[in-house]
Amino acid sequence: MPLIRKLKIGGVELKNNLALAPMAGITNAAFRALCIEGGAGLVVGEMVSAESIRYANKKSLKLLEVYPSEHPIAAQIFGADPESMALAAKLAQDLGADIVDINAGCPVKKVLRSGSGAALMKEPAILEAIVKKTVKAVTAPVTVKIRCGLTEGEVISPRLARVIEGAGASAITLHGRAASNFHAGPVDYDAMAATAAAVKIPVFGNGGVHTARDAAKILETGCAGVAIGRAAVENPSIFLEIAAGLSGPVHEVTLDPVRRIKLFTRFLELNTALYGGDEGVVRARKLVGYWLKGFPDSSALRGDFMKAAGLNEAKALLLQYMEALSRKA
Ligand SMILES: Cc1cc2nc3c(=O)[nH]c(=O)nc-3n(C[C@H](O)[C@H](O)[C@H](O)COP(=O)(O)O)c2cc1C
Repeated sequence: MPLIRKLKIGGVELKNNLALAPMAGITNAAFRALCIEGGAGLVVGEMVSAESIRYANKKSLKLLEVYPSEHPIAAQIFGADPESMALAAKLAQDLGADIVDINAGCPVKKVLRSGSGAALMKEPAILEAIVKKTVKAVTAPVTVKIRCGLTEGEVISPRLARVIEGAGASAITLHGRAASNFHAGPVDYDAMAATAAAVKIPVFGNGGVHTARDAAKILETGCAGVAIGRAAVENPSIFLEIAAGLSGPVHEVTLDPVRRIKLFTRFLELNTALYGGDEGVVRARKLVGYWLKGFPDSSALRGDFMKAAGLNEAKALLLQYMEALSRKA
């Protein structure tokens, strides 16, 4: 079977098996637009609390907004109460989500304390009830994102995957690290293989993918797809690069670095349109470190960007840097 291929999650057809991984504070509509242009087969919004949706929190409802150009798109919800999760899923679907993803892997203390995120991995019966109730509440396929275990070396994902599949979910994303390791530490490819082998539904392997070879390593475990997080923040066209690198014998394809700066400029424009005023530029500050990773002599630009007040100033800084890069090339 070819490594890069079309994939179906329930009835939702993906043009390829490369998905954007959910990232709170990052995967907004502006960023998603670049990932779609950059070849992602599936994008996902920012994690939303089911309880906050239940109480019609305006900010949370805004996070669930979907634009017509974004399909197929998943909405990720978190919570510990099956009833609230089912309600939130229904609302996410009504607002346009094609897929509803349940977060059962978030290791952040506040989330764990509420019994949601990775805490659900300790409570398979509650996770099962959440999945069952959510599946019943929506026509959209339901997916679940988990870790391989709670602490390093623990592998409970194959068992959990069977519970999740049995409860009616249509796919699983497995972040191949322990919850206690947050987003660092070794990726457990054996756990990916065991999890993919444990179920019939597609498993997306996730963690540390930067290149076509990294993606191939995950797909060779038997995972049907790959989810990409931080590398997409550094370069939203990574999906196209990896798709090209997986066609035929695995090889690396890297697009022109100037293109990445151009993409960031476009992101600023889209983000400004999304939030209005200068807020789009201010909010983009948390991405600039990722975006400029690996670019030569970019620390001054990074510093200046943190102070840039408006869109024009930020764009001028990027243009200047891009011109300097082109002259050197
Ligand atoms: C800033 C940031 C925010 C994240 N937010 C979420 C989230 O809301 N939901 C979730 O399931 N995972 C979240 N993650 C985890 C990612 O989806 C992904 O599993 C992790 O970054 C590993 O993939 P990567 O090595 O490709 O980045 C977040 C990761 C980062 C870096």
